Amino acid sequence: MRFSKRVAVAAAGIAVALVASACGNSGGGDSGGKGSKDVEVFTWWADGGEKAGLDGLVTQFGTDCSGFKFVNGAVAGGAGANAKQVLASRLQQSDPPDTFQAHAGAELTDYIKAGQVEDLSAQYKEWGLDSAFPKGLIDSLTVDGKIYSVPANIHRGNVVWTNKTVLASAGITAVPKTLPEFFTALDALKAKGVQTPLALGKDWTQAMLFEAVLISGLGPDKFNGLWTGKTQWTDAAVTQGINDYKKLLGYTNKDRDTFDWTDAEKLIMEGKAGFQLMGDWEAADLDTKGFKDYGYAAFPGNGTAYQWLADSFVLPKGAKDADGTKCWLKTVGSADGQKAFNTKKGSIPARTDANAGDYPAYQQAAIAEWKTGTPVLSCPHGSACSQGWQGAVNSAMGKFSSDQDVAGLQKALDAAAKQYATKK
Ligand code: GAL
Repeated sequence: MRFSKRVAVAAAGIAVALVASACGNSGGGDSGGKGSKDVEVFTWWADGGEKAGLDGLVTQFGTDCSGFKFVNGAVAGGAGANAKQVLASRLQQSDPPDTFQAHAGAELTDYIKAGQVEDLSAQYKEWGLDSAFPKGLIDSLTVDGKIYSVPANIHRGNVVWTNKTVLASAGITAVPKTLPEFFTALDALKAKGVQTPLALGKDWTQAMLFEAVLISGLGPDKFNGLWTGKTQWTDAAVTQGINDYKKLLGYTNKDRDTFDWTDAEKLIMEGKAGFQLMGDWEAADLDTKGFKDYGYAAFPGNGTAYQWLADSFVLPKGAKDADGTKCWLKTVGSADGQKAFNTKKGSIPARTDANAGDYPAYQQAAIAEWKTGTPVLSCPHGSACSQGWQGAVNSAMGKFSSDQDVAGLQKALDAAAKQYATKK
């Protein structure tokens, strides 16, 4: 497993209107009987494949943790766009949920450095988790020798999803392997009158597409170096990447800045788009929505680069019922919990002892590719950069979506790295 070699790396004013769903209670798969104690689990998994994954975990929690009742604190919005704001405000007001979702890596380090989460090293020993997860992943959950969260999964960010029928209408039988071939395919779709050759959503989804373009142009090591200071954002290869990305924008839907990832996915499902770059939560979401005519492959030019991110759960300082939270965390880290969650979520288990045969076809392929692929980081999903850095990148991408100022974007990304790179 090559993971062991990898780089382990708020707004308080909440627009409540942004919060599409802050379900105060239940939300499927409630556990616990009368008199059981509530455990509020805070995520952004409110719908589709994301909720299906959460429901799987909740069912396992019900089996493992009688005496405790799952309370759904989900706040809808892809990549936690709304949830993270709500959470920041709650933490600031010393009103933490019993547990919350945080990405392994720099994003989790934010909470650790702010003293908002408890050390779980003793639980790791007690539950045998030290040996259950790859060392590199544990490193990304550790600060000063203490481990602060329990990972539920490994997702892959750099995957292209397709509508097979739409592609076939333009004579395309597979996802192109290089960027130039990708442009040729997009032109072929355009010539066939496909409304949106490449479906895209708002800021963080744009950051994902841009990262995939950079991985193609820079290669995995140089790309990872952008987040560790080894590669400069002023590099000519970054300029080239921005130009390539700008060209790609020309094939996307004009209303992209108003779209979440699921809106872009809908264009694929409705046959209005041919391709979409998105993380592999899309596999589970398409399955949950009953859409079968999809294909997938690594983004053109990314080769075996596996852009990883991991959802993990924490014990917040001041949680009302630490016993309930610990039981949730034990379930999350257990072999049964990981299977119940990941078979439904599109991700692969973080544990190394899973049986690939238990998983749907997409995850079986992903489990194999994870073992041999080259790990690369993700900023929008926290393995590469802190939340402040994420915010700066997202707003730079949003601005570029309208002004398409290449030099302006490169300058903003360089300034963000200078501001945040040392504050991880
Ligand atoms: C990621 C998260 C995934 C998935 C995705 C889309 O940040 O790690 O589990 O939920 O956002 O919302």
